Amino acid sequence: MSSTAKKLTEQEINPLKSLDEWEEAVIERYPEPDTTAKSKDEYRNYADPARDTVREFYRLNHTYQTYDFVQEKKTDYLRFNKKEMPVWQAFDFLNQLVDDSDPDTDLDQFQHLLQTSETIRADGHPDWMVLTGLMHDMGKVLCLFGEPQWAVVGDTFPVGCGYSDKVVYPEYFKDNPDYNNPRFNTTLGVYEKGCGLGNVHMSWGHDEYIYQMMKDHLPEEGLYMLRYHSFYAWHRESEFDYLLDDHDREMLKWVKLFNPYDLYSKTPVPPDWKQLKPYYEDLVAKYLPATIRF
Ligand SMILES: [Fe+2]
Ligand SMILES: [Fe+2]
Repeated sequence: MSSTAKKLTEQEINPLKSLDEWEEAVIERYPEPDTTAKSKDEYRNYADPARDTVREFYRLNHTYQTYDFVQEKKTDYLRFNKKEMPVWQAFDFLNQLVDDSDPDTDLDQFQHLLQTSETIRADGHPDWMVLTGLMHDMGKVLCLFGEPQWAVVGDTFPVGCGYSDKVVYPEYFKDNPDYNNPRFNTTLGVYEKGCGLGNVHMSWGHDEYIYQMMKDHLPEEGLYMLRYHSFYAWHRESEFDYLLDDHDREMLKWVKLFNPYDLYSKTPVPPDWKQLKPYYEDLVAKYLPATIRF
C-alpha cells in the first residue's frame, strides 16, 4: 500500500459496506430508462445513512486521488509482479471479495461478471465483447492487495488538469491538493488540447488495472470499454471534450454500448454455470493466455 494509504484509518480505507454500494449509487444516479427507479430527488436524500457512506466514499476519493497518487499506483501495479494464476483461479480469487456484512444485497463478483457477459451474448454481440463483459471488473482484486475502496471503484476522472462539476460530488475536489497546484489546476493542466485519452492519466482504480492486464488480448473497442467504463463524466455527461482526439470520439459509442450491460444486467434467475462452462472455457482459451498476472 502507498505511503498515503498507510496513514488512513479503517473508516477511511473502507467507507462503504461493500464495493457494490458504489455501483448501486451509480444505478440510482443513472436509472435504467423506462423503469420506476428512484427519482433524482430520492437520490439527493442526504439524510439517508446509506447515502452518507457513499458521500464519504466520494469525499475520500476526490481528496486523495491526486496526480502523484496515480503515478505511484501505476508504478507499483503495472509491473504485474504481485501474483500469477490461471484465469479460472483468478475468478475464485476475485470472489474473495464477497461481502458478508450485507447478505441480502448482492451477487458475488463472478455472478455480476457472468450476468454482464451473458446479457451481451444474448443480444448477439461479438465474442470479444462477451469476454470483455466477463473480465471487466477483475481489477477489483486491487482491494485484495490492500487498496482502499476509493482507489478501486468510484467514477473515474482525469487527474493533472481542471475538474468538472459533472463528476458526482464535485465540491470535494476542493480538498484535493492538486486543486491549488498551478501545474494542475488550469483547464488543460499538464495536457495539450486534443491530446487523446490515451495520454491522460485517469484516477486510479479497477478500470485502468484491467485495461492494462488485457491490452494485448482484446480488440481496441473492448479495451475502451474496460478502460473507461467508470468514466461517467465522459460517456454519460459528455465532459472533457478538449482532451479527446478523433479516435476517442469514434470509440465513445462502444463505451456507451457497454455501460447498460454493466449497470442493468441483473437477471432474476442466475445463469446456469454448469451448462455455460464449456462455452466460456473455449472463449477464454481463444483470447487469453493460460495465466493472468496481477
Ligand atoms: Fe466496474
Ligand atoms: Fe461491473
